[in-house]
Amino acid sequence: MPVPSLRGKRIVVIGGTSGIGEAVVESALAEGATVIIGSSNDANVRATVAKFGGESTGLVINVREEDSVAAFFGTVGAFDHLVYTAGDWGHSGPPVPFAEIDLRGAAAGYDVRYWGALACIKHAQGRLAADGSVTLTDGVLAHRPRKGVAVMSSMLGAIENVARALSVELAPLRVNVVCPGIVLTERWKKMPEEQRNKMTATQPLPRCCEPGEIAEAYLYLMRGGFITGQTLIVDGGRTLV
Ligand SMILES: NC(=O)c1ccc[n+]([C@@H]2O[C@H](COP(=O)([O-])OP(=O)(O)OC[C@H]3O[C@@H](n4cnc5c(N)ncnc54)[C@H](OP(=O)(O)O)[C@@H]3O)[C@@H](O)[C@H]2O)c1
Repeated sequence: MPVPSLRGKRIVVIGGTSGIGEAVVESALAEGATVIIGSSNDANVRATVAKFGGESTGLVINVREEDSVAAFFGTVGAFDHLVYTAGDWGHSGPPVPFAEIDLRGAAAGYDVRYWGALACIKHAQGRLAADGSVTLTDGVLAHRPRKGVAVMSSMLGAIENVARALSVELAPLRVNVVCPGIVLTERWKKMPEEQRNKMTATQPLPRCCEPGEIAEAYLYLMRGGFITGQTLIVDGGRTLV
């Protein structure tokens, strides 16, 4: 059997203009894939396509609006793999005691990361190759909750559960999740190094994950023809301690 490869595959990366998604774009292109980059800001899309050139193209998509999602996938046409890394950080403010929770505000935390992902899968479905895949993104709070982040933790768990359910419903399309620990993207680069070091100090691997390292997990799940309904935790052992 030939070694699985993404060479010649068409891959859509929603959230591909920054951070984890951008690293997936770079790694997929390096393996010989064609990549379609989607995000909500036209300038970001243009800049990312200009940066990578070659086999990359880009289109604006606002995952908060189903019409925008439908138009995006209508333009993209047939493809092999969907990677979803879109996320907004607006809802990950300081932890709030549960008695003080703003329920409407908390519900909005599902819009981009959960409902946006589902909208993309809904409109990508008929266009994805039968032997293709969907890879979603959650985070270690799903497995290692702490006080004040119950809603965020449950939203991340919902991403894992819907992936399990859709891997049954949409088979043979494969549906998986990458669960990152702390990845050194723009958000964490803004934090002083000393503070970052404190956050990772007790991990078995006491450092942040490099974007290229987390990208490998997405590439593996896209290539891996016999894996579905699974969550791949890449956290330097953070969930163990
Ligand atoms: N970095 C970490 O340590 C870490 C750890 C665990 C989980 N995660 C999760 O992994 C995901 C990616 O993280 P990251 O660090 O790569 O974040 P990031 O650098 O902020 O990237 C987020 C991406 O989502 C896009 N986006 C935001 N709103 C959108 C919308 N309405 N429609 C379409 N695209 C939208 C952004 O582009 P535009 O602004 O152009 O729309 C950007 O490309 C997030 O969900 C994050 O919470 C990250």
